[in-house]
Amino acid sequence: MKLFLDTANIDDIKKYAAWGLVDGVTTNPSLIAKEGVSLEKRIKEIAAVISGPVSSEVTSETAKEMVAEGKEYAKWAKNIYVKCPMTPAGLEATRALTDEGIRVNVTLVFSAAQALLAAKAGAAFVSPFIGRVDDMGQSGMQLIEEIVQVYTNYMFETEVLVASVRSPRQVTDTALLEADICTMPAAIYDKLVKHPLTDAGLEQFKTDWQKMKNK
Ligand code: G3P
Repeated sequence: MKLFLDTANIDDIKKYAAWGLVDGVTTNPSLIAKEGVSLEKRIKEIAAVISGPVSSEVTSETAKEMVAEGKEYAKWAKNIYVKCPMTPAGLEATRALTDEGIRVNVTLVFSAAQALLAAKAGAAFVSPFIGRVDDMGQSGMQLIEEIVQVYTNYMFETEVLVASVRSPRQVTDTALLEADICTMPAAIYDKLVKHPLTDAGLEQFKTDWQKMKNK
């Protein structure tokens, strides 16, 4: 399973890339707005650090405008994936961009039926937002299970990119369901590494080593 960082913060991207654990980066308009920099500047900075897929989201509403935005983004670096929303215009733009050889990540997906449409439109990635599904009292993981099954049934090549991840457990569940990619905020990378028994074990080793040295 590939691990992506869901952020537009360049310091975090550099930090976790140094761990060797960032296979790609996903951004969205909210994450870019939080950074207070231009989309173009930040996406170019990210793509210079990360060789894997870097998702940059369109902000227009018509298919024509989305295609124009997507074509512009694709010029910024070789590893750009254009994020289009799960709307009729977004699907039309997905098909048009895909036909031009530009890879698309269809975002804001909340049902297996939507994921089926994204795959049929030619999306390279589909982004179901599991945390937001859980927030509504439904099961984000059940959604992933359904999408993985539908894609397996029909041998779609679209990769399932699990997004809106809020806990380390969701990362494990994503891997168990054999989804292709899990994108997560920096805080989840930190939480995944931590375990109280690792800390306790390390403390014990340090104490025993010190005792031996003092003898
Ligand atoms: O990048 C999209 C997604 O991961 C957003 O997550 O936490 O805002 O639902 P969240």
